[in-house]
Amino acid sequence: MKGILLLLLLLLLSLLFWEPVLGANVTYDHRALVIDGTRRVLISGSIHYPRSTPEMWPDLIEKSKAGGLDVIETYVFWNIHEPVRNQYDFEGRKDLVRFVKTVAEAGLLVHLRIGPYVCAEWNYGGFPLWLHFIPGIKFRTDSQPFKAEMQKFTAKIVDMMKQENLYASQGGPIILSQIENEYGNVQSAYGLAAKTYINWSASMATSLDTGVPWVMCQQADAPDPIINTCNGFYCDQFTPNSNKKPKMWTENWTGWFLSFGGAVPYRPVQDIAFAVARFFQRGGTFQNYYMYHGGTNFGHTSGGPFIATSYDYDAPLDEYGIIRQPKWGHLKELHKAIKLCEKALVATDPTSSSLAPNVEAHVYNTTIGCAAFLANIGIQSDVTVIFNGKSFHLPAWSVSILPDCQNVVLNTAQINSQTTSQQIKYQTLKHKRTDESDHSSEALQSDWSFVNEPIGISESDVFAKPGLLEQINTTADMSDYLWYSISIEISGDEPFLFNGTQTNLHVESLGHVLHVFVNKNYSGRGIGNSGNAKVTLEKTIMLSRGNNTIDLLSATVGLQNYGAFFDLSGAGITGPVKLGGQSGSLDLSTKEWTYQIGLKGEKSRQFEDFEASQWVSLSTIPTNQPLIWYKTTFDAPEGNDPVAIDFTGMGKGEAWVNGQSIGRYWPKNIAPQSGCSSCNYGGAFKSDKCLKNCGKPSQQLYHVPRSFMKRDSNTLVLFEEMGGDPTKISFVTKQIGSVCAHVSELHPGPVDAWNSSGQNRGTLGPMLTLECSYPNQLISSIRFASFGTPHGTCGNFNHGKCSSANALAVVQQACIGLKYCNIGVSAKSFGDPCKGVTKSLAVEAVCS
Ligand code: GAL
Repeated sequence: MKGILLLLLLLLLSLLFWEPVLGANVTYDHRALVIDGTRRVLISGSIHYPRSTPEMWPDLIEKSKAGGLDVIETYVFWNIHEPVRNQYDFEGRKDLVRFVKTVAEAGLLVHLRIGPYVCAEWNYGGFPLWLHFIPGIKFRTDSQPFKAEMQKFTAKIVDMMKQENLYASQGGPIILSQIENEYGNVQSAYGLAAKTYINWSASMATSLDTGVPWVMCQQADAPDPIINTCNGFYCDQFTPNSNKKPKMWTENWTGWFLSFGGAVPYRPVQDIAFAVARFFQRGGTFQNYYMYHGGTNFGHTSGGPFIATSYDYDAPLDEYGIIRQPKWGHLKELHKAIKLCEKALVATDPTSSSLAPNVEAHVYNTTIGCAAFLANIGIQSDVTVIFNGKSFHLPAWSVSILPDCQNVVLNTAQINSQTTSQQIKYQTLKHKRTDESDHSSEALQSDWSFVNEPIGISESDVFAKPGLLEQINTTADMSDYLWYSISIEISGDEPFLFNGTQTNLHVESLGHVLHVFVNKNYSGRGIGNSGNAKVTLEKTIMLSRGNNTIDLLSATVGLQNYGAFFDLSGAGITGPVKLGGQSGSLDLSTKEWTYQIGLKGEKSRQFEDFEASQWVSLSTIPTNQPLIWYKTTFDAPEGNDPVAIDFTGMGKGEAWVNGQSIGRYWPKNIAPQSGCSSCNYGGAFKSDKCLKNCGKPSQQLYHVPRSFMKRDSNTLVLFEEMGGDPTKISFVTKQIGSVCAHVSELHPGPVDAWNSSGQNRGTLGPMLTLECSYPNQLISSIRFASFGTPHGTCGNFNHGKCSSANALAVVQQACIGLKYCNIGVSAKSFGDPCKGVTKSLAVEAVCS
């Protein structure tokens, strides 16, 4: 009896403490996504999990949350998860479940874009190479073998998420999923089958029963219930294909991707803020930054051809995860301003009116509140307009946000956010820590060992075939490299020779990079570019009497990821290959060639076989020699700051730290001299509008995540393809140098001054805020402070003609020793050094 009572008691207790896992109900209507019955304004940002490390994820997500994001968006990258058909991998950087859970732990939501075609400047658009070899397959169309594999992978991911209860319908963070990606951009090339394929994709996805909505981006004909969404630099003009669907923006490009050989793209934050504000002004309710953190294309993950290893993207969080200012801060203020309008925004459609040429007002007037957006879409001139009986000054290409239809809380062109300067600290590669008594830091040269990579055919598992073979079909992308080798007998009187021994070698290749060796001597190279990957090489070569070998090494630099039939674009030497003189030519294209897939050092896994005896140590190592492996050991730079290698001095190749590839390096690929002229944020942005680093290496610094390194004795292996000097490379750590802010006394004041029901407390006036970026840091000194007419940028401020004498003392008093400080930007704080002149406050502070 006692036992039964006890059992009953236990049962009662367990019922009391049993919490059902409550799922959220995610639906949508004309205005917005609806979560548990409430329409939501959602700010989202893309972070691709394999472009950083699990150790970096919590920090990236926290910084995203602090920046005002509600949702983290990621693609799912099929080719890293199923590298071999039916063999799955979800370890380390590929641990999708861990990533989604990390987002959930931070209290944010997830948009899972499964694709599985993703584009994303990712190798082969995310498709595994084995897919290409399935008999009869046609990608991204109504092809049975393709659809079977696409469905299998999509269902696999959905099941994984379901098993972990990660859909919102199960109490998890995933509120949205995407199927396909921008198919509408290429659809016409696939003819009538395209429509069948899209309809099939839609019903296949819906049948997986995730309990949350699906979207298709750039797919005007997306069938119900799939929501069609917009991608682009601006999406305010977009309308979904049904009045029952909300206006959503899945990719707002915060910058652009970098190509080897290109200059570094950037997008001014005033223009991004303008685009975002315009979108919400004209009825949008979901917006995603592509990218919020771009990260790094480790290993061979970059797409192409010629996508660089850095995928920094000029995103609000830089490649290393450091907050990029003023981009991050200004967008954070923008998000607060938009959220102040949320209730009115989701309650109704806006009514619009024109206040002047190029000036549009949109008002969300509801019984629970009123919010307004005033836009000056003119590129040249500022305008002053009257709205609701008050006068408003609108800078060119800007939007003012009025959460109460009365007062401006933010103008997209006026930045109140702090900027930071980045300090890059150079450190020579240390063989051993200097603090260890038995070893001091030594000259580098003796610390390197090397192995030559054989020229031409060196392995036994090679094959010979008549004719020239397309590269990707031959290598299945198991390596970037394919050797094409041929022997020819020369007697000296061949008509294709001139001067007895010389001839012109003509090689045509689909790309991407070609090296020519004649009789094992380096004889030239050809390099394609991101606009045209093809290489045509014309070279005078010397042959000798008797047997001659011509070894052609073709290298890919990331496989195509975009365009109709991109999977078939091909690479390598498809010919013709000819020898020619004045009086004749010899076409080698159909002769018998011997093929070797990959390098000897790749096969022997030289990058992780550190002890192998073939490594040669000499006091002077060979430099500026093509096809050579280098190895050294190093201690990790002290501290926790992000680490990069500066590859100045090297040519092109790949680098491994403790056996993990940090990606392809190519510092000798220089951006064009021109194209970097100054760039104004006003006017429509395009990917090549704002460029920097002209005439410099496209990428000089290469990220080495802290988690790839131990404290001591790390091994760095390089494969150098073109020739370089490894003793010239160095390590750098990246830090925030100082934090700055520059605020005008005309600024509307901080968005924080508004309370949550959208009323301006109205007492604060313009404020300058400084905040240290790292936890545990305090403001330790003020490098510069001026109230008056200061000018310049962070790290280079100067006093203007007008300057209050006590500015430095006032700022020091207000800020030193604090993590965060606020100073009123007005003569009340500083006295008036020049009456009648519009003044501003500029401050540069150091955190330590
Ligand atoms: C979009 C595509 C993304 C990415 C972007 C450019 O068209 O959907 O995956 O490639 O362009 O960065």
